[in-house]
Amino acid sequence: MSTRQEDTHVKIFDTTLRDGEQSPGNTMNIAEKLRVARQLEILGVDIIEAGFPIASQGDFEAVQQIARTIKGSQIAGLARANDADIDRAWEAVRDAARPRIHTFISTSDIHLQHQLRKNRDEVLNIAVAAVKRAKAYTPVVEFSAMDATRSEREYLCRVFSEVIAAGATTINVPDTVGYSVPSEFGDLIRHIVEHVPNIGEATISVHCHNDLGLAVANSLAAVQNGARQVECTLNGIGERAGNASLEEIVMILRTRRDLFAADTRIVTEKIYPSSRLITSITGVAVQPNKAIVGANAFAHESGIHQDGLLKDKTTYEIMTPESVGMNQSLLVIGKHSGRHAFRSRVEELGFALSDEELNKAFVRFKELADKKKDVFDEDIEALIAEEVLRAPEEFKFLNMTVASGTVAIPSATVEMNVRGKVIKKAAFGDGPVDAAFQAIREITGTKSRLLKYMVNSITGGTDAQGEVTVRLSEGETIVVGQGAHMDIIIASALAYVNALNRLEHARKKHTAGLYH
Ligand code: KIV
Ligand code: ZN
Repeated sequence: MSTRQEDTHVKIFDTTLRDGEQSPGNTMNIAEKLRVARQLEILGVDIIEAGFPIASQGDFEAVQQIARTIKGSQIAGLARANDADIDRAWEAVRDAARPRIHTFISTSDIHLQHQLRKNRDEVLNIAVAAVKRAKAYTPVVEFSAMDATRSEREYLCRVFSEVIAAGATTINVPDTVGYSVPSEFGDLIRHIVEHVPNIGEATISVHCHNDLGLAVANSLAAVQNGARQVECTLNGIGERAGNASLEEIVMILRTRRDLFAADTRIVTEKIYPSSRLITSITGVAVQPNKAIVGANAFAHESGIHQDGLLKDKTTYEIMTPESVGMNQSLLVIGKHSGRHAFRSRVEELGFALSDEELNKAFVRFKELADKKKDVFDEDIEALIAEEVLRAPEEFKFLNMTVASGTVAIPSATVEMNVRGKVIKKAAFGDGPVDAAFQAIREITGTKSRLLKYMVNSITGGTDAQGEVTVRLSEGETIVVGQGAHMDIIIASALAYVNALNRLEHARKKHTAGLYH
């Protein structure tokens, strides 16, 4: 099957909605997950891991809705190797065009002794039984040997061989703790190719974490040695230091096709809009120097480089910004532009909005264009994030009046809709933002702690929209909220309310202890 080197297609298994979403600050509600899934389909990912259905009712519903909506990508649901998880995963993915159950159990002695408290034979039997149960539901079954890189090779190969015999069509080799290095990981994949007798009946997949900054390098070493599926996430989000970044894997394979003789089916021009979508939903920005999607990824500052580029782009550019959908920040449309021009620009930016969503965004665009001289792509992205991507919320900001100055004690009067009831309160603070946050806390009756407050200007000029990001904690839970508005106090209030809604969502979602 597809482990042979002649197979030039590397499948992209995106786990942004599962491994990525379970990491701090990246939680998403159902509507947001659905939007990301639609974008992943447009991006051309082969498999979307939509969630961990048994983790919570919210996870289950998100996976189910994605399975019912997305028809261009396979939909996978994660399940530990036990009956209840597998049955629940199947319930969630069964309506997909091509449902996949992804079941896993640890194979390293460290995990067997200290976490599972089982011996190797017991774990092998559990793995085989899990694959058989999943296979009775769907022909597409993936098995992951968690902590594979710290597992004894002979045992690992035995497990893979038996699960393939039981029906697994993909065997995944996770570097769960991000411990391996490329030469070693490539060698492990080669070892599996050479020592698992029935490996030709399954695709070899890899799932690398980035604890030592090697997730992408390890994944590529695996491809060079026969892996034909890579598990990765947009912006590299995921547990701890994250997962291998989709955009880097895809662009390395595309740019260095000469070296890898393999490629993906990703529509690379959709990479940047997809990355921006994750940022606008989670509020977690990518570092400016991040490869492929960072703000400076294509910015040439040095005089020598600029000189070279002006003479011939190939002197310092190995891929174009356009090839990843990162165009110059263009002055797009103004207040005289019609709905048709607006729709085209929104589509060029990579958003697939329904008519109703487009109308909502268009109304906000007209309001903004009335106030602001120039409307840039970034403004449109921000207003879509604000108006459309935000799901129905428990707390809704309605109105606010603030008073501040050199002598006045800063105060804010805020009006909000809290679970259907309109409430208005006033509060004092150390500054207008503090007063607004205090009023919001009183209205919502919440007690979170503000960890971080950041203001950014979305574009240049004094009429630019301000984009505020706040980070809140409540107990163990940390969330990020974002808001954009031309008035930065209002942007701050929107960000704060957005974070409170995320806290509410996180509170309802109890995933703790699921790996134990
Ligand atoms: O990192 C890991 O091992 C995982 C598995 C569930 C594949 O996320
Ligand atoms: Zn993982």
